[in-house]
Amino acid sequence: MRELKERILKDGQALNEAVLKVDSFINHQVDPNLMENIGKTFADKFADDGVTKVVTIESSGIAPSVFTAKAMNVKLVILKKSTSKILEDNISQTEVASYTKGTEYQLTLNKKYINRNDRVLIIDDFLARGEAAQGAIRLIEAQGAEVVGVGILIEKAFQSGNKALRDKGYTVCSLARIKNLSDGHIEFLED
Ligand code: G4P
Repeated sequence: MRELKERILKDGQALNEAVLKVDSFINHQVDPNLMENIGKTFADKFADDGVTKVVTIESSGIAPSVFTAKAMNVKLVILKKSTSKILEDNISQTEVASYTKGTEYQLTLNKKYINRNDRVLIIDDFLARGEAAQGAIRLIEAQGAEVVGVGILIEKAFQSGNKALRDKGYTVCSLARIKNLSDGHIEFLED
């Protein structure tokens, strides 16, 4: 998506060879106009897939997901990151390890909001190793629902997430694919 790539080049910062800072328009401050256009773009790309729910992971996935769900006229379900196991009938959890942040958490779904008839589009801000997306897929499929695709704002294509998801048969749509972040330069993979 050209608008997102241009914004990354203008306001993003390659913190080191592995981390891209996008605080001013995605993580700490959100640009709603950009998020609205991202939502419309995902809605167009997945228009023929019969999506019934958008699912995201708190917190930075929420803004683009709200606009995606609005553009598709479906509800948004938010997966929470819990530090502990919750023993309740309506809760489903799976452990996710974050390589980038060196943390582990229980990705948590309120089962009331996903059922076996749902066709789910997962949206998240970053794709690194794909651990969060795969955790989301485990929770959604455990409900008997189908994951029709994974929409990502920024994919770090030098990490393994895209391959891991595609190898398992999932459609991945990344709006900006970063090839390289070394020496402070941001280089994209061509579409
Ligand atoms: P993975 O799911 O693809 O394996 O990714 P990983 O666990 O490594 O990433 C964990 C967190 O780090 C996620 O945020 C993700 O958005 C963020 N992240 C990964 N790479 C980058 C990067 O290059 N730049 C920035 N800005 N963030 C990155 P999170 O813990 O879910 O936080 P948030 O959604 O609450 O912001």
